[in-house]
Amino acid sequence: MARPSFPLLTERLMLRPFEDEDLEAMHAIYGREDVNRFLDWEPRSRDAVREWLDRIKTMIALTPRGDGLRLAALLKGTDTLIGDFSVWRTSREHQQGELGFVLHPDFQGKGYGQEAANVMLRMGFERLRFHRIAAQCDARNAPSATLMERLGMRREAHLRESQFIKGEWVDELVYAMLASEWHANH
Ligand SMILES: CC(C)(COP(=O)(O)OP(=O)(O)OC[C@H]1O[C@@H](n2cnc3c(N)ncnc32)[C@H](O)[C@@H]1OP(=O)(O)O)[C@@H](O)C(=O)NCCC(=O)NCCS
Repeated sequence: MARPSFPLLTERLMLRPFEDEDLEAMHAIYGREDVNRFLDWEPRSRDAVREWLDRIKTMIALTPRGDGLRLAALLKGTDTLIGDFSVWRTSREHQQGELGFVLHPDFQGKGYGQEAANVMLRMGFERLRFHRIAAQCDARNAPSATLMERLGMRREAHLRESQFIKGEWVDELVYAMLASEWHANH
C-alpha cells in the first residue's frame, strides 16, 4: 500500500530504506553531541542505534498499522550515507503527516537538506496523500527553521516554553504545508 519504488533519486542524492549495514554511518551521526543539540535525545550508543535501526528500516510505506517513510540519503553513486529523512503519519483520520530531517555535520551547508526534504514532501503529498504535513523545531534551531522556510512551509506557531528538554524550557516553532499549497507550486 502506497509503497514507492526505491531508490528515490534527486540531482545529487539517492534515498533508500535503511539497512543493518548503516549502523556505523548512523552512529557517526546520532552519536554526536552537536547533531542532538536541539533534538529531544541524548547522543546514542552504537547498541541503541542498532536497536533503533531495526525499527526504522521497516518504515518503507504506509501500512494499516501506521508508519510512513524513513530513508537514508546517500551521495549519488557512492556508499556515503549523509542523512536521515522521514515523513510519517500522525493521524489517519485527518490525513496528517510530519517531516523530519537530520544531516551529518560534514554535509550541512551544501543544500542537501533541502534537496532530500523536498523529495520527502513530494512523497508525502503525491504518494502517501497527506492533506497537511507539519514539522517542528526548537526555536533556537535556526538551520532547521530556515530549511523549512526554503521548502515553502509556513510558520504557523511559535509556542512559548512548550517543552522541557535537557533541563530547560524551550520554545517550539511549528511549520506546515497543505497539499493544495504543494500542488499549486509543483
Ligand atoms: C536542519 C539541518 C538538516 C539543516 O541543514 P543545512 O545544511 O543548513 O540545510 P541545507 O542542506 O538545505 O543547506 C542550506 C545551506 O547550504 C547552502 N548551499 C550550498 N550549496 C547549495 C546548493 N547547491 N543548493 C542549495 N543550498 C546550497 C545554502 O546557501 C545554505 O547555507 P546557509 O544556511 O549558510 O545560507 C541540519 O542543520 C541538521 O541536520 N541539524 C542537526 C539535526 C537537526 O536539528 N534536525 C532538525 C530537527 S527539527
